[in-house]
Formats: sequence, C-alpha cells, structure tokens
Amino acid sequence: MLGMPAGGKCGRQQYGMRPPMNPICANATTMADETRNLADRPAVLAVVVPTFNERDNIEEVVRRVGRVLEGLAWEIIFVDDDSPDGTAELAGRLGQLDARVRCIRRIGRRGLASACIEGICSTHCEYVAVMDADLQHDEGLLREMFERTRRDGLDLVIGSRFVGEGSYGEMPPLRQKMSRLATWLGTTLLRTRLSDPMSGFFLVRRETFMRHAGRMSGKGFKILLDYVTTADNQLKIAELPYHMRARQQGQSKLDTLVLWEYLLLICDKTIGRFLPVRFLFFGLSGLVGAVFHLAVLRVGLTALALPFLAAQGLAVYIAMTLNYFTNNRFTYADRRQRGIKLLGGLGKFYLACSPGAALNLTIAGYLYYGEGVTWWVAGLLGVMVAAGINYTLVSANTLDKNG
Ligand code: GDD
Ligand code: MN
Repeated sequence: MLGMPAGGKCGRQQYGMRPPMNPICANATTMADETRNLADRPAVLAVVVPTFNERDNIEEVVRRVGRVLEGLAWEIIFVDDDSPDGTAELAGRLGQLDARVRCIRRIGRRGLASACIEGICSTHCEYVAVMDADLQHDEGLLREMFERTRRDGLDLVIGSRFVGEGSYGEMPPLRQKMSRLATWLGTTLLRTRLSDPMSGFFLVRRETFMRHAGRMSGKGFKILLDYVTTADNQLKIAELPYHMRARQQGQSKLDTLVLWEYLLLICDKTIGRFLPVRFLFFGLSGLVGAVFHLAVLRVGLTALALPFLAAQGLAVYIAMTLNYFTNNRFTYADRRQRGIKLLGGLGKFYLACSPGAALNLTIAGYLYYGEGVTWWVAGLLGVMVAAGINYTLVSANTLDKNG
C-alpha cells in the first residue's frame, strides 16, 4: 500500500476546501469528481524535489507535503536523473494514485541545480518551492513560506539555518565546518546579504525566477546562490529559520565534484564577467599539463638517457594516465570506476587517445629529427597539435550526447 490518498475516505479534501461537486454524495466522491475538482482549481504552489536514488524517501515526502499543504491547491514535481534505484518508477506509481504528483525523468543528465531549474520551468504555478527529498528540510515551513511570499509580495523566501532559531541540527561537526567555510567564501566573494546562501530549501515567485533563469549557470548544487547573484541581489527576500534534520534514508551526493563545481560557480560569478571561466580553466590546465610533460620529457632524455621519441612517448603516456585518474576522481561518486573496471577504463582511454598520441609523436619526431628543432619546442608542438585534435573529438562527442 502506497499510503495515499491521505485526506479521508474519498480523499476529497486533498484538493482544497471547495464544496463537493455533487452535494448528495459528499462522502462518495467519484474519480471523475476528483478530476473535475482538480481541473477547476489549478495548483498555485508547486514543490520541486530533485532526486537521485531517493526511492525510500519520496513516498514519505508526498505524505508530509500533502499533510502540511492540506486545503491548498498544490502539486509536487520530482525531477529524477534516471536513478538506478527506481525512484522515477515509484514516483510514477504515486502519480497514478494522485494526479498532483508528477515526475520529470532526465536521461543521461546529472546535476542538482539544473534539475531544480527544469522543475521550476515545468510548472504553471505562481509559486514554486524547492526542497530536498531526504527530509532534511522541514516541510512544516512550506505553508509559512508560501503565505509570507504572497502577503508581502516577495520574490524569494529562504529556509535558513542561520537566522533566529535556525540550526544545523544533527549535521556532523566536520560537515558543519565545511559548510560554514563554503558559506563564508560565497557571501564574501559574491557579496550577498543572505545568511544561508547554501540553503537548498526556498520558495520563489515563478515569474521573477523565469526572468533570470536564462542567465543562471545551472551547474552544481548551489542553485540559490546562483539565482541571487544572477538577479544581482535585486530580489525582495525574506529568510525564515528552520532546524535541519538528519537525512532519512540513502546517502548524500555531495562529493569532490560538487565542491569543485561550487568553486567554478564562484569564479563564474566573479571573474566570469570578464573572462569565460571554462576558457580560463582550459588554459590553466593546459599550462600545468605542458609543464608536467616537459618535466617528464627532460627526465627521460637526461636521467633515463632515452632517445627523443621514446622519452616523448613516455611523457605522453604518463600525462594521459594522470589525466585519466584525475578525471575519474572528479566524476560523480556513483559513476566513479573502481578495481578492474578502473583498469579497463584506462585501456579504453589509451585507445581513444592513441590517434592523438600517434600524431603527437609523428610531429615531434619530424621536428626533432627532420628539422633539428630543439627538444622542448618539438615536444611542446607535438603536444599542442594532439591536444587540439583530442579537444575537437571530445567536444564533438559531448555535443552528440547533450546537444
Ligand atoms: N536530479 C538530481 N540530480 N537530484 C540530485 C542530484 C543530481 O545530480 N544530486 C543530488 N540530488 C538530490 C538528492 O536526491 C536530494 O534530494 C537533494 O538533491 C540534495 O542532495 P543531498 O545529497 O542530500 O545533498 P546534501 O544534503 O549534501 O546537501 C544539501 O544540503 C546543503 C546544505 O547543507 C543540498 O540541499 C544543498 O543544496 C545544500 O546546500
Ligand atoms: Mn541531504
């Protein structure tokens, strides 16, 4: 039993405080009546819940949201990134029992912020709340958030752990410290006046949000910070305190990639105004790679006394290996390869890079042996041409998948 509908035998009061369509059968509303009631009253408040592997939590989320928002016309939208644990299937079954439950299932995509943005874009409701699926956010605050936004004509109401009675609740001390550091970094560098810019629990007036959505970065976890800085701190905002709870079921998805993306977001919103951050990082990592390559080439030539082509080959493969392991470290925890799969992946990576590597060696060898160019110029030019080829191949491949 999925535990719904929650509102009485025929569940009528779930759809708001309207009188029944057919007063004679007040206690025996039919499915058709329910649907008509729903169609009569389009939802005014949507609750967007991003999910990745949250199967054991979502039913409880629906139950609690239904309880708190009873009497209001609401809907709940799960935005699931094709969770392997079957979250979307369960959300679909919940939706068959209650039309106010919907699920957007994204295939081949990942990302908390972009999931929230898509959820907000998918609804016609005037007000949209965003809340995690793991029950860490206090759904009891939803009604007050909604009423405050309407009453005071606000654009954004944030559930904050740092105003009034708000708190981290049972969050482990190390996570609290990390979170404080990230908050400090965000507020100082981006000059926001929010007490809790990291909060993933907030409510927006959709019309205002849509005016800025196109310019948001949509990367990583920090959608709120992204929104507020994109809107240039010009929103009418209130913060309401809440106690954060411990995660109910499952695991947190915060990992090194999330932290990295947070730094990217900060760069994007600061120096990004003057220089595209991707370009900057591409240049920076290219520089580090080139210096590293030359160092290995030099060691190969001098300490190992290898011939030029062998030393260049060694440097290329060491750099490739390092590249592979760093990439693997920084991908989403659930897609990270381990053990034998990690080695298999390395083999495939070598294979994929080998046309570039062959070109690299051909060019470097031709320049060094054929034209008498000095070792480091020959080595570097080989790397640069190969990097250009690899970059083109990779972007073509990525565009194929996402664009
Ligand atoms: N669709 C989708 N895609 N959902 C995701 C993804 C993703 O790639 N990653 C995480 N989620 C969902 C989770 O299923 C959960 O419902 C919610 O986003 C938050 O993820 P958690 O893994 O529970 O994150 P957290 O508890 O570490 O971080 C939360 O609290 C922080 C404050 O300490 C988030 O709300 C952060 O935004 C918030 O800053
Ligand atoms: Mn969480």
